[in-house]
Amino acid sequence: MSITPTHVVSTGFEERFGRRPDGVWSAPGRVNLIGEHTDYNEGFVLPFAIDRRTQAALALRDDTRINVTSTFSDETVSIDIADLDPQNLSGWSAYPLGIAWALGASGVELAGRPGFDLHIDSAVPVGAGLSSSAAIECSVALALNDVWQLGLSRPALALVGQLAENKAVGAPTGIMDQSASLLGQADAAVFLDCRSLEAKVIELRFARAGLEILVINTMVSHAHATGGYADRRASCEAGAAALGVTSLRDVSSLDLARAADDLDEETFRRVRHVVTENERVLATIEVLDSAGARAIGDLLDASHLSMRDDFEISVPELDLAVEVARASGAIGARMTGGGFGGAAIALTPSAQIASVTDAVLAAFAAAGYRTPEIFTVTPSTGATRDA
Ligand code: GLA
Repeated sequence: MSITPTHVVSTGFEERFGRRPDGVWSAPGRVNLIGEHTDYNEGFVLPFAIDRRTQAALALRDDTRINVTSTFSDETVSIDIADLDPQNLSGWSAYPLGIAWALGASGVELAGRPGFDLHIDSAVPVGAGLSSSAAIECSVALALNDVWQLGLSRPALALVGQLAENKAVGAPTGIMDQSASLLGQADAAVFLDCRSLEAKVIELRFARAGLEILVINTMVSHAHATGGYADRRASCEAGAAALGVTSLRDVSSLDLARAADDLDEETFRRVRHVVTENERVLATIEVLDSAGARAIGDLLDASHLSMRDDFEISVPELDLAVEVARASGAIGARMTGGGFGGAAIALTPSAQIASVTDAVLAAFAAAGYRTPEIFTVTPSTGATRDA
């Protein structure tokens, strides 16, 4: 069972703090079905929340201290509310403490608020591209929204999570992951317009079509606070500036011929990925509606090729996972998330799950790659209060 029962996180809290928590909150990781590196370009994304969650047990204190513990580490990180500042935060605790800081930076008066004890337990694999970070941020954001009685909406909490990720963790990421974790619904994806932040629930009906999403975690870990993610974001911003638009959202495939003349070859390919990916998200929604999930395979495949060849964020392990999954029965497959490692997803008929899994395991062994973790995920409900 991938969902940690609430009593486990409550017991962990009691062991560390010697009292019962005031409540338990949880938030899921996510898989992005399609729409990669489009969120910070004010484009479209179609992620869904998965059935692997992070749980946060929390109790308010009588003073202004914050103590955080987790199953990631033996340390207790302790700080006074007045000292919350991105410069003072590091490691795993930057995620939960970053949320408390980001609430303050978003206009919540922190002075005079009670501190809290917090214990975190997570069933979302770290470094797999399934947004374990957003799951921590969103469970803690929902918890603080409740215990501090802030009355913030879920879209507002998603922005708080993104601010924590950008400033406290230092990863220049977009709004997709936190939106999926807070707005997800069972058997559905979240279609988010990252310019207006308007969200729409899109029913997926995978089970009814006899399909499942297989996640292939390549075990190649990545971190978006360092490395290629920021470079890609900078290329997109440079491309938009050179084309005279605020963001690549304002470029369509009809503009690409002109863009090829105006941009250097590499920037052009970066731009082409974003432009065509936005169009693939819209096409996926149309096809889901008109023909059902069995008909979206080509769009998933095209998305992967665009990330591999134009955006250049794939790695050999992801390409192998995608190729072998397709060759052994998946309807469509692509890497998911920010890239440079992490996981691929394969939309697979239930009857083919075992053969796809075996074929990918065999291919990784033959290539001398680390053994991947392969499991199915179900589109699930977003962040909740559980106890
Ligand atoms: C990471 C980021 C998201 C998004 C994806 C790529 O998951 O956190 O904001 O940019 O990469 O689509």
